[in-house]
Amino acid sequence: MPEAVPEDLAVALASSADRRGAFGQPLIFLSSTGSTNDVAQRLADNGAPHGAVVIALAQTAGRGRQGREWFSPPGAGVYMSVLIRNRAIAPLLTLAGGVAVADGIRRATGLPAAIKWPNDIVVRDAHAPGRRRKLAGILAEGSTADSGVQHVVVGIGINVRPADYPPALVNRVTSLERELGRPVDAGLVASEILVALNEQVTALESGRRSEVLDRWRSLSPSAVGGQVSWSISGETIAGTTAGIDGDGALLVRSAGATHRIISGEVRWE
Ligand code: BTN
Repeated sequence: MPEAVPEDLAVALASSADRRGAFGQPLIFLSSTGSTNDVAQRLADNGAPHGAVVIALAQTAGRGRQGREWFSPPGAGVYMSVLIRNRAIAPLLTLAGGVAVADGIRRATGLPAAIKWPNDIVVRDAHAPGRRRKLAGILAEGSTADSGVQHVVVGIGINVRPADYPPALVNRVTSLERELGRPVDAGLVASEILVALNEQVTALESGRRSEVLDRWRSLSPSAVGGQVSWSISGETIAGTTAGIDGDGALLVRSAGATHRIISGEVRWE
């Protein structure tokens, strides 16, 4: 059952109402749910409009990319899913979502959030030069039929406050409040991400695809000159990142060849 939107979120959403376009109409708030992506998917199946948003403050079955769990205990973060009904822009929605989350965090908090391909939102680790910690992640899930992608649910998980992360994550993640050393208005962060998502989706819909790619490139310094490795048929290949192409694929130089990586796991050294 949908619940009343908490006061801080309602105030933040009111402040962005004329900048969010369709995003957040309607907005379903749940203090806790399984996965906001699943709720948004069910809403889509029941005819919810483009721009419908589900926001939760905890998930019991939050999921990340590559079949991983997304740690979503109460009090740690904000978990949000947005329904996008424009099928034509589906291929670039993952990158557009990354730009929106990085820009929304920057505007709401001033923190210099960056993107690590394909769409990890990271900040520099103050205690380990050259390393980054993850602040937020994006999981875009398309719903397909015989005629192709019908709609996409863009799921966004943001670490707002420090939490008891599992040992495998503890040295790789961080939160907005840990980085800033002060309380953060999570409602404002969510609201500014929706504003930035509206900008990016509008740019894609208006044929300004290169604008989205250029913004992504400027937010992702590691996409050029970063050291990565990946596996193909049991063989591990290591190389140096050389940017993204017009479809958002990661280009990697290795032994004189340029590899084009479109999905799968890339390890960052
Ligand atoms: C990643 O692995 O980096 C992507 C994480 C995406 C997590 C968000 S939280 C809101 C939405 N609901 C989910 O179950 N997953 C996404």
